[in-house]
Amino acid sequence: MTTRPTVILTRRWPASVEAELQQRYRVTLNEDDHPFSSRELQSALQHYDAVCPTVTDALTAEVLNTAPLRCRILANYGVGVNHIDIETAAAKGITVTNTPGVLTDCTADIAITLLLMVARRAGEGERQVRSGRWQGWRPTHLLGTKITGKTLGIIGMGRIGQAVARRARFGFGMKILYFHPRPLANDALAGLNASACASIDQLLPQCDFVSLHCPGGQRNFHLIDARRLGLMPSHAFLINTSRGDVVDTEALIQALKRGTIRGAGLDVYENEPHVDPQLCALENAVLLPHLGSATVETREAMGLRVLANLDAFFSGRNPPDCVV
Ligand code: DGY
Repeated sequence: MTTRPTVILTRRWPASVEAELQQRYRVTLNEDDHPFSSRELQSALQHYDAVCPTVTDALTAEVLNTAPLRCRILANYGVGVNHIDIETAAAKGITVTNTPGVLTDCTADIAITLLLMVARRAGEGERQVRSGRWQGWRPTHLLGTKITGKTLGIIGMGRIGQAVARRARFGFGMKILYFHPRPLANDALAGLNASACASIDQLLPQCDFVSLHCPGGQRNFHLIDARRLGLMPSHAFLINTSRGDVVDTEALIQALKRGTIRGAGLDVYENEPHVDPQLCALENAVLLPHLGSATVETREAMGLRVLANLDAFFSGRNPPDCVV
């Protein structure tokens, strides 16, 4: 009888996918769902054939350089892998996989949720109602910004950027501008009437809304900094559902305080789960707790995608979602 590979999940997953995984592997669960420390991650790397991390696990070079190393695959639960030092993983012969595709729609929905909430001041309104401060309808109460027909600039026109563009174009008749660092497939933007910009600097001044859909990590660290925030019109809104470190938080706080942009809708933060208290104090910021993929359907689909990657890997095939 062959022994089943050992697998550790660093966080709890939807019960149905944990059960499915347990049918096929010797699975260790993180019963109380606490975020793993670096020492716990190293212990996982030393004792399991597969480690299934998430965005909350910092798999730095230092953590990965642990010995003896048993882990042969990091089957990430999530599409973004900026929390994993990919070069070190590759150098150590560890396969890294992710879960693309299955969270596209729900993440795009959250970007649109933020866009609507911040433009229509929904967070402020909710706070008024809940606190009993609402004094009734009046013609000048909480006036927001109309969305229909406005211009949306998308930075990073991959799967999620395209899904946001479709919602904005077909749902709200928005004009779509985009910046993407590589040429796109000919039919990727069919029917969107989207215009490419040669640079981010060219895109920003033309937008009423800017939505970020590029990967996090060193390459895009503080891509939106004080200078670029300064290129946005003062009536414009910034939406970030990508990674917190794509935006210079301090520069964004200053822009929101001084009114050099009108508002921001954020689902991601530098140093999560810490959120700068200055941001929390700003009425023109809508703040969600990294909910992009947080639906039952998507979180189950992400788990099944990890399972498909593990099954392929342990049966000697190429995992469908190999990052390295
Ligand atoms: C993703 O899949 O990258 C989500 O942000 C959660 O990690």
